[in-house]
Amino acid sequence: MPDGKGKPLWTSRRGFLGRALTAAGTAIAAPSLLNAQAKEKVTDSLGEGEMQVTLTVNGKVRTIGIEPRVTLLDALRERLGLTGSKKGCDRGQCGACTVLIDGQRVYSCLALAVMQEGKEITTVEGLATGNQLHPVQSAFIDNDGFQCGYCTPGQICAAVALLDEVKRECGSAVTPDLTQPPQLADLSEAEIKERLSGNLCRCGAYNGIVAAVQQATGQTPPSPAALMLGMEQEARL
Ligand code: FES
Ligand code: FES
Repeated sequence: MPDGKGKPLWTSRRGFLGRALTAAGTAIAAPSLLNAQAKEKVTDSLGEGEMQVTLTVNGKVRTIGIEPRVTLLDALRERLGLTGSKKGCDRGQCGACTVLIDGQRVYSCLALAVMQEGKEITTVEGLATGNQLHPVQSAFIDNDGFQCGYCTPGQICAAVALLDEVKRECGSAVTPDLTQPPQLADLSEAEIKERLSGNLCRCGAYNGIVAAVQQATGQTPPSPAALMLGMEQEARL
């Protein structure tokens, strides 16, 4: 029987029932379909050979897909946009890539990113508190602890760890008596140089770097004039 629009009524009813069943079927199948789609999406976002890794960097949790061979330095710079940590040698010789992992200094070019899940990673970008620089950062500025600045993020992270190591009474290769490790107030120039010997500065801003650490320990660093005089004397030798 025509339905008044040129279509038989049974066709409309069958069409209605079909649509109803299709809708019901979709509703029943929806959760599993959605889950499958979600899984597909995660898998889709991973490139060939990549795995999902969750890193906690400067207090923020970030999940990325990376190959297991990617270093922490590359993950920070290339995937998380944190370019403060620098790539100097990429083989553990210069210290430009130094970051803190659970408070300890680490060459991030020698650490695999996939092994850092569950650890607290701090880069130079995470040292300041709001607009307030970390005391070590301020000390580097006050004492001209840099020239080109390429090594500076690593030097600063290493210096932050150095202060913590002294507070924890860790000795160094030049500590005369390991049963009596130095305190911050009496940390000698030789101790600072030894403890920062894993961070190279191709500009040779070492005098300013040592003075910055002295300031950060609470000591009075030599004046810029005294530093210049010392550099001139060194150059004459
Ligand atoms: S870049 Fe890592 S130690 Fe040189
Ligand atoms: S300031 Fe240039 S490498 Fe250190």
